[in-house]
Amino acid sequence: MKNRTGTAGTPRIRPRTVVLAVAAGAALLASTALIAPAANAAASTLRAAAAQSGRYFGAAANSFQLSNTSFTTILNREFNSIVAENEMKWDATEPQQNTFNFTGGDRLVAHARANGMSVRGHTLVWHAQQPGWAQNLSGSALRNAMVNHINRVAGHFRGQIHSWDVVNEAFADGGSGGRRDSNLQRTGNDWIEVAFRTARAADPNARLCYNDYNTDGINAKSTGIYNMVRDFKSRGVPIDCVGFQSHLGTTLASDYQANLQRFADLGVDVQITELDVAEGANQASIYERVTRACLAVARCTGITTWGVWDAASWRSDNPLLFDRNGNKKAAYNSVLNALNSVSGPTPPPTTTAPPPVTSTPPPGGGACSASVSLNSWNGGFVATVRVTAGNAAIRGWTVRIALPGGTAVTGTWNAQASGSSGTVNFSNVSYNGQISAGGNTEFGFQGTGSGPSGTPTCTAS
Ligand code: XIL
Repeated sequence: MKNRTGTAGTPRIRPRTVVLAVAAGAALLASTALIAPAANAAASTLRAAAAQSGRYFGAAANSFQLSNTSFTTILNREFNSIVAENEMKWDATEPQQNTFNFTGGDRLVAHARANGMSVRGHTLVWHAQQPGWAQNLSGSALRNAMVNHINRVAGHFRGQIHSWDVVNEAFADGGSGGRRDSNLQRTGNDWIEVAFRTARAADPNARLCYNDYNTDGINAKSTGIYNMVRDFKSRGVPIDCVGFQSHLGTTLASDYQANLQRFADLGVDVQITELDVAEGANQASIYERVTRACLAVARCTGITTWGVWDAASWRSDNPLLFDRNGNKKAAYNSVLNALNSVSGPTPPPTTTAPPPVTSTPPPGGGACSASVSLNSWNGGFVATVRVTAGNAAIRGWTVRIALPGGTAVTGTWNAQASGSSGTVNFSNVSYNGQISAGGNTEFGFQGTGSGPSGTPTCTAS
């Protein structure tokens, strides 16, 4: 098993001028009409090389590093995705309860947009790096604080995040394959799915990921996560991707690729999210094997290294692609060559938006029925509603649900709600009104108070 080696601490930056290479003969070659560029010329940067197969190549960064031009020269040249190393975590974004600070995250997002990069969001909920006030909460107070945090943070960055690490590191190390104990886990086993449903409502276009470490092969921990993802997919819990942190030592599990593939086969994207590798004789080859594994899995959509250069790594064993002076290491060349040598299958589009409806709507007039399944805890709930068409196809539906006094709906997905308390009508949205005879669709909502208990009524159009 790989251990996370490393020491946290204040990253140190050693500014240094990076000399840009100038292709001395370029002008001469370009002026010679007879010499055409090779059809498959190797790309000379990580971002361009990864883009050849539709993938991104990213790095973790901190907003203060953006003032260092030696740093941004490398960042902008080599990477087309950024993740905040610390500045989108709970302690950074909500230092006091319900008081939010997005300064660092906003700066990173602005830099990404200005330089043609996408952004990974890291991370909405985690047992570590919680603000002190959250560490001291438990039960429904913590659950409600978690839901509020996700709504506010994912809501703030709505539309700007390629993929969110909704939940980070919720599984235990060792052989149990079970959940890690934490204050979040003690609010009830459904906290992870509540987090995902909340995130979907807050930013419907972000890919929603579960992210963890020590998952670099088929082992008890990765299998526990695999089973959770399979369960989520079967029950319609919104999960789109799994992040493999890949903080690696001096060896790599031989089934690293097979493990990525089995998750992809569940119908989620996979991403290498925090790659760094212990220095030593194997560093370059492990980087290469990880890169090739991603390229060989069609749904592996991108790779992120946990930093740009060794000087600022959270680990002390020089685990990144650029050395402390900003020079490319052997590991850099092995990754670049791997990206260039295997064009790899193009990943499927990563949009979550449903395709536009172009067919003629079926005749309406059929009947429908609705049933609710409820996950509730003291003070809050998530309701999943299944709408089923009768013997004839329908082209629209409205489900009427009576809520108990004191209950308020705080978020709805895959439906339009008429209000937030009392009797609420939930109507289809543009892409899920049409249901074929006997078919069904699902929508959901979450709220504070206790969930609905009566039988809903369904009206079809
Ligand atoms: C680390 C940062 O790199 C450090 O600067 C910080 O002190 C601690 O957290 N898994 C994760 C990351 O998901 O958020 C961690 O980042 C590294 C391990």
